[in-house]
Amino acid sequence: CKVRHYKFHVTTKNTTRLCSSKPIVTVNGKFPGPTLYAREDDTVLVKVRNLVNHNVTIHWHGVRQVRTGWSDGPAYITQCPIQPGQSYLYNFTLTGQRGTLLWHAHVNWLRSTLHGAIVILPKRGVPYPFPKPDKELVVILGEWWKSDTEDVINEALKSGLAPNVSDAHTINGLPGIVSVANCSSQDVYKLPVESGKTYLLRIINAALNEELFFKIASHLFTVVEVDASYVKPFKTDTLLIAPGQTTNVLLTADQNSGKYTIVASPFMDSPVVAVDNLTATATLHYTGTLAIISTVLTTPPPRNATQVANNFTKSLKSLNSKKYPANVPLTVDHSLLFTIGLGINPCPSCKAGNGSRAVAAVNNVTFVMPTTALLQAHYFNIKGVFTTDFPGNPSQVYNYTGTPAVASSQTTNGTKVYRLAFNSTVQVVLQDTGVIAPESHPIHLHGFNFFVVGSGVGNYDPKTDQNNFNLVDPVERNTIGVPTGGWVATRFRADNPGVWFLHCHFEVHTTWGLKMAFLVDNGKGPIESLIPPPNDLPKC
Ligand code: C2O
Repeated sequence: CKVRHYKFHVTTKNTTRLCSSKPIVTVNGKFPGPTLYAREDDTVLVKVRNLVNHNVTIHWHGVRQVRTGWSDGPAYITQCPIQPGQSYLYNFTLTGQRGTLLWHAHVNWLRSTLHGAIVILPKRGVPYPFPKPDKELVVILGEWWKSDTEDVINEALKSGLAPNVSDAHTINGLPGIVSVANCSSQDVYKLPVESGKTYLLRIINAALNEELFFKIASHLFTVVEVDASYVKPFKTDTLLIAPGQTTNVLLTADQNSGKYTIVASPFMDSPVVAVDNLTATATLHYTGTLAIISTVLTTPPPRNATQVANNFTKSLKSLNSKKYPANVPLTVDHSLLFTIGLGINPCPSCKAGNGSRAVAAVNNVTFVMPTTALLQAHYFNIKGVFTTDFPGNPSQVYNYTGTPAVASSQTTNGTKVYRLAFNSTVQVVLQDTGVIAPESHPIHLHGFNFFVVGSGVGNYDPKTDQNNFNLVDPVERNTIGVPTGGWVATRFRADNPGVWFLHCHFEVHTTWGLKMAFLVDNGKGPIESLIPPPNDLPKC
């Protein structure tokens, strides 16, 4: 195994999209940022230098960080932010992991422009469990705001209302052909292909607030991996990717020539939630196609295409081969039920919200960010930073997905963690609520992959729903879209000591408090326990 060295210089760069320019925060002046390449079991050292006047951290989304929580990246959870002018060396090993992941800033809304791909190849000499592609390409989906995204969220917090939606979606940083107020954008990403060749597309949703459909005119995908876990290959013409999720597909260029539209469009089946309705476009371009040839178009699914979304999600199964077995925990030490959703709390100073503000919560607890990182507080035994009384079940039982009583819409504030014994097995059922509005929430867990053993609509029933769990080949991932007005059941083994964030990967909901953390106690032996913190760990 190798040691890979990277230098990430966080700098601002004036960037033009949708006919206007603004300075954006980037890594090495690139948007999307540079791809980090490595192989399974390699050690990666990334020296991050903060040359902007924002606090910065980088999270390696989906990297398990076994015993190296100090390098995980979420601000105030595992580290204090890197202050302007400072630097920090992230140091981690990609133990037993290969596939596509992403890195992104994990403080405020900076990840809108501070993100990029992580490509982990199998160990040298180890083939993919699918036909070898002729070429590999990274495709990053995102959003673009004409305003500074830090201003967007700060204004929303002041008013207590929902923040503005983005002004366009993007494919590899470009919106494609869109017409918005006083602007016709022609910035189209071109994906070049040769007839007869097969491509591995590593597709990442790096958007802040929207799940996205992805489709290419006249072409089918074979899905082979999600969130850096191999799946049983299946064919589809439409993908659904939530923020933080990655999907690897094989694409055979089975047309002779021509230009074919690629689309990325939002999925949101809750009618009351505002989204950016624009479709990002790019072009699949066969080499040698004449400029005058017109592009073959395709229609993206409508934003409320629940059936299309479900068909895709239901097709995902772990590969579960001899070489890549699905080690699903068959027994459960901690059985948890988490309601996730929105709420309304009083806010006398909020300008617009009638003296109240939108919040979000897990089991009715709105997480309050501490001012010292939880992992440091845990490791050095600093008192008063967090409490360990996060409720493992809802504080009140009600019809979660029905029209709830007003009483259940107000949440309590706290910096609470849930404690798990090292190496215990955990089942977390994530239950969406109808408080304010039912909505699909992409929930991400740091430090682990989990198996998605079941899902359904309405309220989870602990008596009957367990009987239908798939404990053989459920998909393994790090981020899961909880269905609108429904639930998903996940299982994992708590074999990684540290403090691990769980949150909605819609940045607006994280900001509102839809987050909590697990504290996994140290294992007993020197190869099980958390490594000591590095000397350059930033101070708060
Ligand atoms: Cu990709 Cu805690 O985030």
